[in-house]
Amino acid sequence: MYIGLDLGTSGLKGIVIDDTQSVVAEAVAPLTVQRPHDGWSEQDPADWIQALHQVMHALSAAADMSAVRGIGLSGQMHGATLLGSDDTVLRPCILWNDTRAAKEAAEMDADPAFRQVTGNIVFPGFTAPKVAWVMAHEPDIGAKIRKVLLPKDYLRLVLTGEYVAEMSDAAGTSWLDVGARAWSDDLLGKTGISHDHMPRLVEGSDVSGTLRADFAAQYGLRRDVVVAGGGGDNAASAVGVGVVTAGDAFVSLGTSGVLFAASAAYQPDAATAVHTFCHALPKTWHQMGVILAAADAVNWFANVIGQPAADLTSGLGPLQAPGRTLFLPYLGGERTPHNDANVRGQFLHLDHATDRDAMTRAVLEGVTHAFRDSFDALVETGTRIDRLIGVGGGTKSDYWVQAVATALNMPIALPVAGDFGGAFGAARLGMMATTGEGAALAGPPRIAREVVPDPNLVDAFGAAHARYRAGYTAIKDLH
Ligand code: XUL
Repeated sequence: MYIGLDLGTSGLKGIVIDDTQSVVAEAVAPLTVQRPHDGWSEQDPADWIQALHQVMHALSAAADMSAVRGIGLSGQMHGATLLGSDDTVLRPCILWNDTRAAKEAAEMDADPAFRQVTGNIVFPGFTAPKVAWVMAHEPDIGAKIRKVLLPKDYLRLVLTGEYVAEMSDAAGTSWLDVGARAWSDDLLGKTGISHDHMPRLVEGSDVSGTLRADFAAQYGLRRDVVVAGGGGDNAASAVGVGVVTAGDAFVSLGTSGVLFAASAAYQPDAATAVHTFCHALPKTWHQMGVILAAADAVNWFANVIGQPAADLTSGLGPLQAPGRTLFLPYLGGERTPHNDANVRGQFLHLDHATDRDAMTRAVLEGVTHAFRDSFDALVETGTRIDRLIGVGGGTKSDYWVQAVATALNMPIALPVAGDFGGAFGAARLGMMATTGEGAALAGPPRIAREVVPDPNLVDAFGAAHARYRAGYTAIKDLH
């Protein structure tokens, strides 16, 4: 059996799979995000560890832990977990959707070396500009930094006692030479840190270490249980849904929105604001467009209205042409295609007839148009998308999935009920590291149904997307 642990933004999820990859147990512990200032987004790593133990307790009550041979890790990307001597956590982790480091990111991005070596824009949410922000604004903390770990790699430290990162997550730091799959001493030096601050690198399907004796004993696990490198949550999800070869892609309607395509070669095109990262499997890369608030925007609106998001979206009936009301989902800025940390969300064109359902549809449509932006940006880089799988909590809304299929004019395959997120992909990576088998273990899921575009509405979604683009141009300087 194998365990997959996915440290998400809204919760830590754990699953246990058997040797046939059937899920035998699962558990979730919720997490909250602290937003002390506009544009800030933080979590206390101590909460992750509490969630880890909660999930491990639940899994060990539901499955025989002595049969576990491997563990894989997945997690929210880019977070700066700063450790001092004795591995003390120096401050709350600055998360992927935190844009406070916009100035530092722009300064780094103006140095051509960053795009040349990493293949990506230095986005404010990436790790390097956050460390630069800490050095500038919290110099006492900056001086104490001994190690910089990504969120899931902090869990690994607790599990194994080792400082290790893997390629897919490391690619989102702005310190990795993404083509060569190695830390760039030059880029680390430009941030005022060195190779010694960084964890050792492995591939996601390789062994990163074995369990600490005390952790193993606490949950009845064998001491020789292997912990795989794992993956950033998007790469791990891709392994979970078998998106590992060129032409395969998934669209994730999660807290963030992601359009992810696998590729066999490293073909960066930073100017499009598409992310080009290592995949969690050796000699494989991927590209993705990232929307900072996808389901997050829907949940924000549901909170404002005071009703569960599922209630708001379930009563919408069949897909309609987009209405006049426009929603721009930039609650905390946007990555693809704008790289704009300052823009904020908007409702445009409200009239006397605008009601709750019209606003709900506008929110879903706004995020849908953002997916169209990412689709166009990915296609512009020359990336091929032959098949598209839908994942993430938002796929529970038929309305939303059909809106996205129609906006992209492409069918979206939905897997049978079950977990195909980062935790499942992480468990598969755990299995790969233990058995030595590779991509062969990352087959496609069984498909429950395919959601097809509504041919009568494709043009209407295209026209609404053009209005959405014009909406961004109109408000982008309105701070
Ligand atoms: C990807 C990104 C998000 C987080 C969400 O670049 O920032 O998708 O990984 O957990």
